[in-house]
Amino acid sequence: MADPTPDSWRRTDAYLANTLVGHDEVLETAVAAQHDAGLPSIEVAPLNGKFLHLIARISGARRVLEIGTLGAYSTIWLARALPDDGSVITIEAEPANAAIARSNIDRAGLSNRIEIREGRAAEVLPTLAGPFDMVFIDADKESNTVYLDWAARLGRPGTVIVVDNIGRAGRVADPATEDPQVIGTQRALEMLARDPRFDATALQTLDLKGWDGIALAVVTDAVMMAD
Ligand code: DHB
Ligand code: MG
Repeated sequence: MADPTPDSWRRTDAYLANTLVGHDEVLETAVAAQHDAGLPSIEVAPLNGKFLHLIARISGARRVLEIGTLGAYSTIWLARALPDDGSVITIEAEPANAAIARSNIDRAGLSNRIEIREGRAAEVLPTLAGPFDMVFIDADKESNTVYLDWAARLGRPGTVIVVDNIGRAGRVADPATEDPQVIGTQRALEMLARDPRFDATALQTLDLKGWDGIALAVVTDAVMMAD
């Protein structure tokens, strides 16, 4: 098998996305609006968005917490996975991002199912009431251990946690890194490994966003002893 090159992995990503996700007017418009507003193009790739959607469906999630809304691309994928009485609470620190997210959510017809909480996640999280069935962590990587702690506190045994950007072009495996985002990611992975409230794994991803990865975790029964 040939080693991947940027051309070959992007072609493969396009093939898989065209085959399994296809066109989606609402999501494409949301990404375009985000781009036009000058927000960074760091939303999850389409296949990853659908992956999150399927995890939510497979786990039977009704209440989802997202940390890091950006333009609500992943938020829309998650909200579409929920039953009529389901809801997503999504936390966004940047008011300009929240404004774009809000209009994308309105246009998607999902404003009844998604609530944006504006503010620093570390300040918003203590104001929330659990339990959430699924938590997607995709914000400032430096705070990932704080977010994992809150995901466990606001979860219950069986809560599914997904953490974005755990690969960072392979830099996560560099023990000498001085990049605070990579260090935050390493600490999060070590916490997932050591803290008895979690059981976790991680997958590398190679797609139109480059080389990165996601961690998948479940909250264990140990969370009941931790309170
Ligand atoms: C960055 C953040 C993300 O959540 C992502 O998916 C890609 C990049 C960043 O801050 O660079
Ligand atoms: Mg991300």
